[in-house]
Amino acid sequence: MFRCATSSGTITFDTQGSADAVYSFLHVMVINMAELYKIEHAVSEYSSNVNNNFPDFARSIINFVRTERQLTDETSPMELLVDAGCGSGGSTRIFAPFFKRIIGVDPSEEQIAAAKSDTNCDNIEYMLGSGENIPVEKETVDVIISYFAIQYMDLENYVTECRRVLKQDGLALSFGHDYNNIEPLDSGDSKPVQDILKSFFEAAKIFFTNNRPDLGCWLDRYQSIFDNIDGINKKRVDDICHRQEMRLIDFKLRLLSIPEYRSYDEDVHLKTGKHPVDELMLDIKRRWELSQLPDAEIRIIMTYSFFVICLRK
Ligand SMILES: C[S@@+](CC[C@H](N)C(=O)[O-])C[C@H]1O[C@@H](n2cnc3c(N)ncnc32)[C@H](O)[C@@H]1O
Repeated sequence: MFRCATSSGTITFDTQGSADAVYSFLHVMVINMAELYKIEHAVSEYSSNVNNNFPDFARSIINFVRTERQLTDETSPMELLVDAGCGSGGSTRIFAPFFKRIIGVDPSEEQIAAAKSDTNCDNIEYMLGSGENIPVEKETVDVIISYFAIQYMDLENYVTECRRVLKQDGLALSFGHDYNNIEPLDSGDSKPVQDILKSFFEAAKIFFTNNRPDLGCWLDRYQSIFDNIDGINKKRVDDICHRQEMRLIDFKLRLLSIPEYRSYDEDVHLKTGKHPVDELMLDIKRRWELSQLPDAEIRIIMTYSFFVICLRK
């Protein structure tokens, strides 16, 4: 049984446990993708497979913030960070060491409930809210972050809210990342596979452009979002990269846990009988001459290339 709150009410339906059926159904319904994060199944899939646990990235962001704000004390925590679109807290927790207080906000009750179930950080609270409606007093926030969430916000209202809640030298940082490269860790011929990744993401981009221009806006590294932001100082940061060890199957599950890619995968499957995410894994393994191994037995190093939009009053 799956429940999904949409703008037209709550949809409840029995799919006998098939996540694919849910995604196909929603794809046909063409609902707002942000609402997919309200499906209970999607919440747990996203939080267990999309491990945005990048402590090194958090440190890079904090170094950038300190430089921008000309803070010379590198050890004292700052007062208040807001994570707008915190989801189940994956992007929030990595900033815990750097702030006295952190508030994670998300419009999805299901995501907030999942975030609250992790009680490891005393300085983090989770609340219902959104980028356009941050439940804090004016001029109290040092840093707003939003990780893969700005695409769901009304940009004009988000900018107005940033201007309201940020301290005079506060910063709002919206970021995401590309899957820049993967390399096999143990064995095989580690021929580069960037061209294979590029073809996959190009094909997804064409699908999004033709079918749902509102989706996949991270595929241009948030450039169109950046261009559409007005009424506040803005700049881009594009030079932060980090590496993470995982298995090939984790990469596959990660892609399929992102509703937009799931929708793309299902659509192509309906038309061609092939799942592009499976094809991607097969192409990579062929290139490495590891076709005989299951995805779960191939350890990889993923290189992420981050893109950041930085706003300040
Ligand atoms: C891709 S998830 C990212 C979650 C989390 N930041 C992470 O990195 O794991 C996007 C999140 O944006 C939330 N969202 C949707 N509309 C939003 C809005 N207007 N303001 C803030 N967050 C929103 C969704 O509910 C979802 O939790």
